[in-house]
Amino acid sequence: MSAPLVIAIDGPAASGKGTLAKRLAAHFGLPHLDTGLLYRAVALTLIDAGTDLGDEAAAARAAAALSAEGLVDPRLRERAMGEAASRVSSVPQVRAALLSWQQRFAAGPEGAVLDGRDIGTVVCPDARVKLFITATPEERARRRHRELTGRGEAAAPEAILADIRARDARDSSRAAAPLMAAQDAVILDTTELDADAAFAEALAIVTRLGGLSRA
Ligand code: CDP
Ligand code: CDP
Repeated sequence: MSAPLVIAIDGPAASGKGTLAKRLAAHFGLPHLDTGLLYRAVALTLIDAGTDLGDEAAAARAAAALSAEGLVDPRLRERAMGEAASRVSSVPQVRAALLSWQQRFAAGPEGAVLDGRDIGTVVCPDARVKLFITATPEERARRRHRELTGRGEAAAPEAILADIRARDARDSSRAAAPLMAAQDAVILDTTELDADAAFAEALAIVTRLGGLSRA
């Protein structure tokens, strides 16, 4: 019997990796972990305690103490939390504490879909399928703007684009597990693809690389 199917999905903010990961997980009946939520939860713990986001020791403690209950707070999805998560995620001890959590999830008997920044490179280097999802910063900013407007969070389009560029720069330049495509990842540029078209392309790639039948 072949090893359980693990699908690693990485990419920058608002590239559509989360949407894709959810749909692939539903299609194949696999558990899904949005790993960005873990970093957001560490940031929220610090914010709730009134602790400075630059306090690395406090961030490491929050990461070590993180529990599944900490991942359901609706505030985790707020725009500011993405930025805050990006700050704590550059702390090596935070990444180390969250690594074993993610690897345990991926090692489940059914396989798994994980999305984030370093899944194909660090968390699941042996994943059977690795996708790196991209789109231009302008298109990603348009998507995030639509998404935020849709849920009543007002934000200026220029501010969102600036946010996305800043986060890209920080996530790609940090020393610990920077955002980058694994050498054996398939790169999928979704700039011209809507969510349905991106899913169709990704499904074809997973079917081919995963050695799965089209049935
Ligand atoms: O997880 P990530 O931040 O990479 O992005 P997402 O939350 O999956 O997608 C951000 C927004 O873009 C969502 O509202 C998606 O529905 C939308 N989207 C899109 O318009 N076109 C795509 N090809 C993928 C996502
Ligand atoms: O959905 P979006 O791409 O905006 O953000 P996210 O996936 O929730 O990630 C928030 C932040 O957490 C990112 O900007 C990264 O700095 C960090 N992160 C990471 O370092 N490694 C991961 N595997 C996932 C997220």
